[in-house]
Amino acid sequence: MQQVQENIFQKHLEKGTVFLDRNIITPHYLPSMLPFREKQIELISSGLASVLHGKKANNFFLYGKVGTGKTVTVKHVLNQLQEFIDKSPAMVDFAYVNCRNYNTKYKILLKALGKFYPKKDFIGYSSAFVYEQLLNYANEGRHLIIALDEVDKIRDLNELIYSLTRANDELSLGSISLVGISNNLFFKDRLDARTKSALLEKELVFPPYNAEELKTILNERVARAFRPGSVSSSAINLAAAIAAQESGDARTAIMLLLRAGEEADKMDFSEVSDVLVRKAKSSVEEEVILNVVCTLPKQQQLVLYAVSLLTDQGKGLQRITSMGHEQEAVFFSGDIYNEYKRISLSLGETVVSSRWFREYVNELDTYGLLLTTASGKGVRGTTTLIKLGFDAKKLRVVLEKELMGE
Ligand SMILES: Nc1ncnc2c1ncn2[C@@H]1O[C@H](COP(=O)(O)OP(=O)(O)O)[C@@H](O)[C@H]1O
Ligand SMILES: [Mg+2]
Repeated sequence: MQQVQENIFQKHLEKGTVFLDRNIITPHYLPSMLPFREKQIELISSGLASVLHGKKANNFFLYGKVGTGKTVTVKHVLNQLQEFIDKSPAMVDFAYVNCRNYNTKYKILLKALGKFYPKKDFIGYSSAFVYEQLLNYANEGRHLIIALDEVDKIRDLNELIYSLTRANDELSLGSISLVGISNNLFFKDRLDARTKSALLEKELVFPPYNAEELKTILNERVARAFRPGSVSSSAINLAAAIAAQESGDARTAIMLLLRAGEEADKMDFSEVSDVLVRKAKSSVEEEVILNVVCTLPKQQQLVLYAVSLLTDQGKGLQRITSMGHEQEAVFFSGDIYNEYKRISLSLGETVVSSRWFREYVNELDTYGLLLTTASGKGVRGTTTLIKLGFDAKKLRVVLEKELMGE
């Protein structure tokens, strides 16, 4: 017997939704107003404005935790610059490169050239040729700005900075300036002296947002992303409070409302309530943490991987926690260092000294990815005890993809 079935898409079309324009509440959306970043916008644009006067701009280095608006601020400034030169043509051009996707000097120069010569295809040409083309483009009298987002992901950063600095010495006309952006608060302290002085001509820090600021940012977005009256003010307050408490991160705040809205649609609710925001909390936090893990420098990923692997394999010292029954896997710092060395060697990565290893452990601690305590005096004297701050299996999966994928 044949049954007439409704098309499976029909019900999705008829279903009610709390969203007016879902895109506006995703992290990729570029808002036209950026409250609480007026000062940064002013400093960056006034610095870059030199190119409009036919002079090289200073190199900028912007840093701050994830979700503090660095990417969106730079894109906003560059969009404004584009708008300006569309109206008043100038020998100025720029390229924005996300170095998480383009993580070598060659890939970055290729990506920038693709923007400067949209009709040409440089794939397959040598690094020297690509570099030469970039120089020629500037040498026609253009002042170029290259924004390197997540600059800490570049494998041969010293070489790239050195080449581009030398380029400016070789150019008789035009110039190349850089805007480096990093989510890593410690990255600049680890740079080679020469790279550091070239890249950090002007530094700008993006501080975390507090709950009040996040509330303002959210209200602005909610008004355009959701149907009027479909998000309760307690939902907005809670999303702002959670994000402020975690890290002052606007991305977390926005994601909380996005996921809560999706859940409302799924349940056929007409309002996004604080209950749905609370429900979204753990999955959003997980997304954010795994995103932070992907932005870590490779050596820190290797250290974190060593702890994740040993934890997942159940190799830690099992201690009864203060809760009495729960068990946790704790490690001696030295055991983690040995495992880190083993993994790095097997992947053909450099092995850092135990001094740098301790430095990385401390940084991972500040991100909450590792928890460290000094052991009391014991068999091995005083040592650091290390334990994982997040689910071992999930970290292992993500790090294996980061370190061994591609
Ligand atoms: N001041 C702000 N006003 C409005 N939205 C913001 C602001 N700062 C950040 N956002 C939003 O928060 C999210 C994260 O910002 P992003 O620029 O990606 O942070 P970062 O690059 O520092 O990690 C984006 O969706 C962005 O639109
Ligand atoms: Mg960013």
